[in-house]
Amino acid sequence: MNIQQNIQLQPYNSFRTKARAKLFCEPESVEQLSEVLRSYPNEPKLVIGNGCNLFFTKDFDGLVIHPRMRGIRPVLDNDSIVELETGAGEEWDNFVNHCVEKGYAGIENLSLIPGTVGAAPIQNIGAYGTEVKDAIVRVHAVNKDTGDPETFPAEACEFGYRDSMFKRTRQYIVTSVVFRLSKSFAYTEKYADLNRELASVPHPSLKQVREAIIRIRRRKLPDPAELPNAGSFFKNPLLTMEEKERLLAKLPDAPIYPIGTGKFKTSAAFLIEKAGYKGKRNGPVGIYERHALIIVNYATENGNDIVDFMHEVQQAVDKKFGIRLEPEVRIY
Ligand code: EPU
Repeated sequence: MNIQQNIQLQPYNSFRTKARAKLFCEPESVEQLSEVLRSYPNEPKLVIGNGCNLFFTKDFDGLVIHPRMRGIRPVLDNDSIVELETGAGEEWDNFVNHCVEKGYAGIENLSLIPGTVGAAPIQNIGAYGTEVKDAIVRVHAVNKDTGDPETFPAEACEFGYRDSMFKRTRQYIVTSVVFRLSKSFAYTEKYADLNRELASVPHPSLKQVREAIIRIRRRKLPDPAELPNAGSFFKNPLLTMEEKERLLAKLPDAPIYPIGTGKFKTSAAFLIEKAGYKGKRNGPVGIYERHALIIVNYATENGNDIVDFMHEVQQAVDKKFGIRLEPEVRIY
C-alpha cells in the first residue's frame, strides 16, 4: 500500500485548519490496515474518517490513517429484520439513504449527520431521540498495536452519550459495523422538533421522516462546504440534582432532560445563547447565528484561533452559570 509523506491535512478536517502529517495512508481492506500497522509499530497513529468532528492546532508527527473499506453486505435476512455489515469508509448518510430506500428502519433519525460509518460507533452519534448504539449488533476493528482483527459485540463497546470504549481507549480502528434494522416501521413521537415538522402528516413513512430531518438540519446547521464547522462543538452538559436546581434558580426556562440515575442533561446551545454568544464573532471565528452550539470558521487556517474562541465561550458560560462546557469536537 502507498504510504505518502508530508501530507497537508486541511482537506481532511471540516474546520479547514492547516497541519501536516508526517505519514499518511488509505487502507481499503482489513489486510492492508493490519499490514501498515505492523510495518510502523513505533509511530503515533491517528485515524480520520471525514474529519468532521476534529481539527488541528499543530502538525501530526506520526501516521494518519484514512480508512477506505467499502461495501454494504447483508449478513442476516429474515421476514422482520436484516443485518447489514457496512465498511468503515462508507459515507454515513449514503448508508442511511440506502436503508431508507430499502425500507429498513432504525437509523432514519440520524439522516444527514456528516461523517463515515467507521466514526459512528466511536462517539455513538445521535440525533432526534435516536443513538446509533440502538442499531449496532457488533463492531469489527483492528488493534492498533498488534494489527490483529477483533470483534466487539455491542455490550463490549460500552456506549454512552457521545462516548464508547473506542473513544476512551483509542486502541482500535473500526473496519466495519454490523447494524440490525427492522423491515417494519411506525413513527413514534420522541423529539418535539421532529413532531412539529411532521404534524400535518398522518402516518409518516420512513422516507417522510428522513426528509423532515433533512429539512430541520438544513434550516439550522451550516453546511461545512460553505462555512467550515464541525457540527455541535460542545457536549450538552450533564448535571446532578443540585447543579440542576442551581441552574434553574438562575435560568428558570432552561431546558432540562432527565436521563435517569438522578442525572439531568441541559442544552449547551441555550447556555451559550443566554451568555450572549449566539451569532457573536471575534476575529476569524464565531458562533453561528442560527444555532448557538456551532462554532464556525470564517477566516482562519490556524486551529489555535478556534481554541482561543472556545476558551472565551467556556469562560463566559462558566462565569454566568457556573457550568463548564466540554468540547465534543476533538482537538489535535
Ligand atoms: N437552543 C437554544 N439556542 C439555539 C439552539 C438551541 O437555546 O441556538 C436550545 C433550545 O431550547 C432547543 C435545545 O437547545 O430546544 C436543543 O436544540 P437542538 O434540538 O438543536 O439540539 P442540541 O441539543 O443543540 C443535539 C446534538 C446534535 C443533534 C441535535 C438534534 C449534541 C452535542 N448535539 O443538539 O448533534 O443534531 O441534538 O437531535 O448532543 C452533533 O453532535 O454534531 C450534532 C449536531
